[in-house]
Amino acid sequence: MTMEAASSKSFFRFSFLLFLLLLLLVHTWNPVNKAKLLDCSQYMPWCTSKNRIYAKTELIVDTQKPKPKPIDHLTETPHHPLDPLTIQEINLVRTILSSYPPFKSSFPAIHSISLHEPHKSLVLNWKKSDTLPSRKASVIALLNAQSHVLLVDLGLNQVTSHVMNSASGYPMLAFDDISAAIQVPLSNMEFNKTVTARGVKLSDLTCIGLSPGWYGKREEGRRLIKIQCFSNKDTANFYMRPIEGLTVTVDVDTKEILHVSDTGRNIPIPTATNTEYRYSKLHNSPEIFMNSISMEQPNGPSFSVDGHSVKWANWEFHLKPDARAGVIVSQAMVRDTDTGKLRSVLYKGFSSELFVPYMDPSDGWYFKTYMDAGEFGMGVTAMSLVPLNDCPRYSYYMDGIFVASDGKPYVQPNMVCLFERYAGEIGWRHSESPLISGMENIREARPKVTLVARMAASVGNYDYIIDWEFQTDGLIRVKVGLSGMLMVKGTPHQNLNQVAEQEEMSGPLVSENVIGVVHDHFVTFYLDMDVDGSTNSFVKVNLVKEETSPGESPRKSYLKAKRHVAKTEKDAQIKLKLYEPSEFHVVNPSRRSRLGNPSGYKVVPGVTAASILDPHDPPQVRSAFTNNQIWVTPYNRSEQWAGGRFVYQGKGEDTLAVWSERNRPIENKDIVLWYTLGFHHIPCQEDFPVMPTVSSSFDLKPVNFFDRNPILLAAPNVEEDLPICRAAASA
Ligand SMILES: *[C@@H]1O[C@H](CO)[C@@H](O)[C@H](O)[C@H]1NC(C)=O
Ligand SMILES: *[C@@H]1O[C@H](CO)[C@@H](O)[C@H](O)[C@H]1NC(C)=O
Repeated sequence: MTMEAASSKSFFRFSFLLFLLLLLLVHTWNPVNKAKLLDCSQYMPWCTSKNRIYAKTELIVDTQKPKPKPIDHLTETPHHPLDPLTIQEINLVRTILSSYPPFKSSFPAIHSISLHEPHKSLVLNWKKSDTLPSRKASVIALLNAQSHVLLVDLGLNQVTSHVMNSASGYPMLAFDDISAAIQVPLSNMEFNKTVTARGVKLSDLTCIGLSPGWYGKREEGRRLIKIQCFSNKDTANFYMRPIEGLTVTVDVDTKEILHVSDTGRNIPIPTATNTEYRYSKLHNSPEIFMNSISMEQPNGPSFSVDGHSVKWANWEFHLKPDARAGVIVSQAMVRDTDTGKLRSVLYKGFSSELFVPYMDPSDGWYFKTYMDAGEFGMGVTAMSLVPLNDCPRYSYYMDGIFVASDGKPYVQPNMVCLFERYAGEIGWRHSESPLISGMENIREARPKVTLVARMAASVGNYDYIIDWEFQTDGLIRVKVGLSGMLMVKGTPHQNLNQVAEQEEMSGPLVSENVIGVVHDHFVTFYLDMDVDGSTNSFVKVNLVKEETSPGESPRKSYLKAKRHVAKTEKDAQIKLKLYEPSEFHVVNPSRRSRLGNPSGYKVVPGVTAASILDPHDPPQVRSAFTNNQIWVTPYNRSEQWAGGRFVYQGKGEDTLAVWSERNRPIENKDIVLWYTLGFHHIPCQEDFPVMPTVSSSFDLKPVNFFDRNPILLAAPNVEEDLPICRAAASA
């Protein structure tokens, strides 16, 4: 080392120390301490706690921003071709149906009335000043045990198409179906006897209606519900008190009991001890202490909602509740910061189907292989979100308008929330060590703020939280959170020491007499990617090991990225493999970047799981859409529900797996990508009595879509922009 180098090095070391000292000073000199502290409650609606102090005298109060008016659903009209049917429109559909000759003598049970979306080309060409394409409703109705699919044209005031389902399966259960069916066992003597013998009064029963799946001829040709019951004595968490082994199979339409399976007579009903989860009832328990916490938005949120059209930062998209899917995101477009132009990313995305198989082949459990979207509905089971807990302050809440089985509309209030999220994450950063570069104080960091659209479905015991999170760097993160109650099995055992070594339980003991049965969750997303337009290709970018020739390099091996454009559907049936790493791109071959790379988005799997059930197991056949984690199909508007349109008791003849076997061309076409997010769940004691949320996600991430980092010009936060509230005690 020369003298010069040594001295310059020590100079940098010195300046680095000086820099650290400066940093320390900057930190101790907190401008907030010097600012005039005021009671902010008189200034700020967002900071009303009486012991809080506001640290800034000048501000733009958020009342300057027009607050969204509560929507009057009775007079609401659609503004966008994809807007869901309004109350008036649903009423009109009902009127049209009631004078429709085949239904004149007896009005069918309505299982769904939803917007029949106009053709994609019409929607894509529609502009805000245009009149709406004709509004049509897709209706699924049940009459004399036959499923009818109708198309109602609201402009023409008539039914324009009417077909009967000739394949297997029934429409989504209606609430009326379940509530009527669970009454049936109560008047059955055999049921009465066994429940009473187990020490449960009929008045302490809570029964739930479960979908039976499909297992062959024995239960074919009629709509069935499997009813299981719990004791709700001394608890709201009846799910933890199963009357094990008692299953009543009921014909939903005739209210006939087909079968009573009563195998668990020697299994005690777990006690109510420790099952409580309501805060108001748990006041004696110690709390974890934290100061109250919230995100501050002194100028209010930065997004706007016009009906169902959302604008935020560089994103625009359409968001709507859906009875079956939960929420649907459409026409997601991101503004290119370089050109100022909006560019399309995703035409339509939603959770298309779920598959939740339990791993217990016994009589009371084998059939538990739920397909929650098509059997129960992710939207109709999504209840009002809890402000400040499900969604932070400043959230915008959107209502769902759904239809009861008499065809009348109802409002599912606050079903979806929309909020900006700042969780302390970093958007990008770099600091330059003066020691290395000799450059002075370079520390650049940007906060990551995102926009989240959220809903939470409570499909009986389980809660599914589904988030669509938009980032300013163009990334869309789709996240699924699982919470709620386990589906548990009663057992005579109270402790593992009572379990014989050879005895196999279907899951771990999670409480005395309670087994948390092992199960899986799969959520399959429909992602109609339109990257810079509808004509896209799917590209697998495989990382493969290359070996050097002897003497070529000190290295023996290295990785190379090899691109392979999928030609047909089978080419795009992907099973994820850790030791065969790949990226999965959806590109627009005719849209090239400045450097000639095709504009693209990639699907980036997160932590996930695959179904390893036998492919010929009936539930796996019905849910064969989980056979691969990724599929790509050519766009076809009648292929949107991964498990088929009629999932309830369906045999699986109409699944994504069946469509994909046609092996249609997918290169340079309008394509749909399907991604399945999976969880294996081996329950544990911490999941009792209610599960802390477990979540996983996947990303849709721009790849050579932008010419450079699209958030280079994002502004950093500065103290002046963020007036804060402080606890008075620390002032
Ligand atoms: C159940 O059985 C008991 C007698 O075992 C009888 O008193 C009661 O009325 C029965 N309840 C119903 C709803 O049938
Ligand atoms: C569109 O999907 C339906 C249902 O799977 C199918 O019957 C039809 O053949 C498909 N059309 C094309 C062009 O693939």
